[in-house]
Amino acid sequence: MADVRKFPHHLIREIFEQPEALRRTIEPRVLLADGEIRLDEVRIAREELRSVRRINIVASGTSRHAGMTGQYMMQELAAVPVDVDYASEFEYRNPMIGRGELSIFITQSGETADTTAAQREAREKGSRTIAITNVEGSTIAREADGFIYTHAGPEISIASTKAFTAQMACLFLFALYLGEIKQKVSRALAQSYIGELLALLEKTETILAAADRVEKLAELYYRVDDFMFLGRAIHYPVAMDGALKLKEVSYIHAEGYPTGEAKHGPNALIDFRLPLVMIATCDRSDPGSVLRYEKNVSNMEGFKKQGATVIALASEGDAAIPQIADHTIFIPSAPELLSPILEIVPLQLFAYYVAAKRGLDVDRPRNLVKAVTLE
Ligand code: F6R
Repeated sequence: MADVRKFPHHLIREIFEQPEALRRTIEPRVLLADGEIRLDEVRIAREELRSVRRINIVASGTSRHAGMTGQYMMQELAAVPVDVDYASEFEYRNPMIGRGELSIFITQSGETADTTAAQREAREKGSRTIAITNVEGSTIAREADGFIYTHAGPEISIASTKAFTAQMACLFLFALYLGEIKQKVSRALAQSYIGELLALLEKTETILAAADRVEKLAELYYRVDDFMFLGRAIHYPVAMDGALKLKEVSYIHAEGYPTGEAKHGPNALIDFRLPLVMIATCDRSDPGSVLRYEKNVSNMEGFKKQGATVIALASEGDAAIPQIADHTIFIPSAPELLSPILEIVPLQLFAYYVAAKRGLDVDRPRNLVKAVTLE
């Protein structure tokens, strides 16, 4: 039961449980002093993982968005090509997978029919499989070669929040683990990333402590009918999930797009009637991130000239974005590969407050179930 004294709904309680969910998921698996990641549950020999040629990530909904961030993490840290599929589409593209490949299935419930069916198909084709799930002993975990549990605790609200951030943490741990095995990640780099992973717990607390600002923003926008969420690179899946959260709990039409793709059609929609949520954080220590940030700033200026209203997510200390955007939500700085775990939190809060102000059943949106057990 939701603690009704403190939280009126499961959804907001689960959003606030994220620092603890991340702590339980990350802490037992890292050794800061040695720069070591412990993932014994993966149960695939290191030699076999060293020779993995390609990775397929397969999932549905929010879990697939986590998988999309995992693609950036693994390609960057382990230099291995990664494909991401919708579980419901997997079988239709004649997945040409087999030995020497690894398939990762992500599912909070562990019972999503499309995802369990895709895992069976991958196994039949000879691929090794790893399940990332929140439910111990679930179908996906029982049938996989190995697993990584998200220790997010039971997720009751239909919209997935704490499981999502825990999934991204698991994917990052695995990317680092594989990067070490493939000798692409030095001990010093692993140590620095482990320190950054652990720092996420307090940073998430900081974002939650400012929830009232997001609530005020929701007060301004809860009557709007359409939204567009934009993000570039690893922030694109965050935009997708921000849009999904808003549409499923508030019934507001929301689309998530890669920022650079807006010019290829969606821009025709952008004017004062369509508020944009733009993710424009920046890791100043990473030249690639700075370049992407500059492109975001220039895109944002263009959208403002078209009359758009912009709600921006920017890194703490950014002086430029608040000059351009109508509203700025600040996010504590983090390495770019980890920043999605922080960025999604205010977007979850936004969806929650908008839905609550619209008087909707936020924990049980219409037409949805927690585990989709039919294909
Ligand atoms: C969105 C949401 C759904 C699920 C999807 C997959 O908030 O909850 O999109 O992510 O139905 O569910 P699992 O992860 O249980 O396979």
